[in-house]
Amino acid sequence: MPVVDVHTHVYPPAYTALLRSRTTVPYMRSFPDAPSAGERLVILPAEDTESTSRGRPIGPEYYDISQKLAFMDAHGIDVSVISLANPWLDWLPAGEAAETARVINDDVERMCAEHQGRLYAFGTLPLSAPAHEVVAEIKRLSGMKHMRGVIMGTSGLGSGLDDPALNPIWAAIEESKQLIFLHPHYGLPGDVYGPRANDYGHVLPLAMGFPLETTIAVTRMLLSGVWDRFQNLEVLLAHSGGTLPFLAGRIESCIAHDAHLKHEGKLEKRRDLWDILKKNIYLDAVVYADPGLKAAIEASGADRLLFGTDHPFFPPLDEGETEWLSVKSNSNAVKSVFQGDQKTADAIMGGNAVRILRLDD
Ligand code: URA
Ligand code: ZN
Repeated sequence: MPVVDVHTHVYPPAYTALLRSRTTVPYMRSFPDAPSAGERLVILPAEDTESTSRGRPIGPEYYDISQKLAFMDAHGIDVSVISLANPWLDWLPAGEAAETARVINDDVERMCAEHQGRLYAFGTLPLSAPAHEVVAEIKRLSGMKHMRGVIMGTSGLGSGLDDPALNPIWAAIEESKQLIFLHPHYGLPGDVYGPRANDYGHVLPLAMGFPLETTIAVTRMLLSGVWDRFQNLEVLLAHSGGTLPFLAGRIESCIAHDAHLKHEGKLEKRRDLWDILKKNIYLDAVVYADPGLKAAIEASGADRLLFGTDHPFFPPLDEGETEWLSVKSNSNAVKSVFQGDQKTADAIMGGNAVRILRLDD
């Protein structure tokens, strides 16, 4: 059974050139006051600070596909389903988004074709463009040999994933049987991290902001009835659903006790979160430890869990470490939870991805 990584990013050359041309977030540049720090990638407003946490060091592992293949070889990964990393094209002026998405998607499709059998991809949508241009790109992607879905953040067309203006986009994705890889970027408002947040590196926004952002986005989709309207819409949630498997019971209980929803008639004939978790949602296994993995399995089932690494983020901090701790934590959790059940462990490490993403087509 092949090992498949479904959560692995790349900033293809066309995107890197765009970031290098910019001086406000998101941008990529080196700083004259700290030339030894080399080039840095700054994608979040909270990281745009005068400190060692200004963005992150960036090297060819972020944009050179041969480094992706070397990483795969070093970690026994046979196939990667690559996706553009955040913040995608969310920030582009509306008039430039559609053409930029075409250039980037063509760039990614070319990379996959040049490494036949080892790379597939989730495409990128021009979400700042009018909805009909987004739909056109969804249709174009569905004709590309290596594309298996789309990666998307939580902002939708600018006001979140509960926006009814997304209906034609959900319909086009559902109809073309593509998978949405839903991934956080925006986190939570900076003030929740407190006045000493800069002392804590990126820990609070990455460990808590990202997963809560995903959880809130999916709950807003649920509350606005996205899965009642699009019953076959399939979504792969990053980081094992944020905190969704753990909080699903509380979310359902709050809905069941909400007088406003009852008064509006919204408690009748609704699909509940447990049903959606088992029929529409897939979870990656990027959760780094047994308890989170077990919650994900409880919520969606081991046949809906897919191994991932989040490469090239979370590299080892010390030079010379060839095996990445971030990768090992994820694969060890699968091994430990499925001790004595190699078949299910193999399914999570790759078999599920082959089946769900039709990688043997
Ligand atoms: N940090 C990011 O900004 N994106 C990721 O995918 C992982 C870490
Ligand atoms: Zn990621």
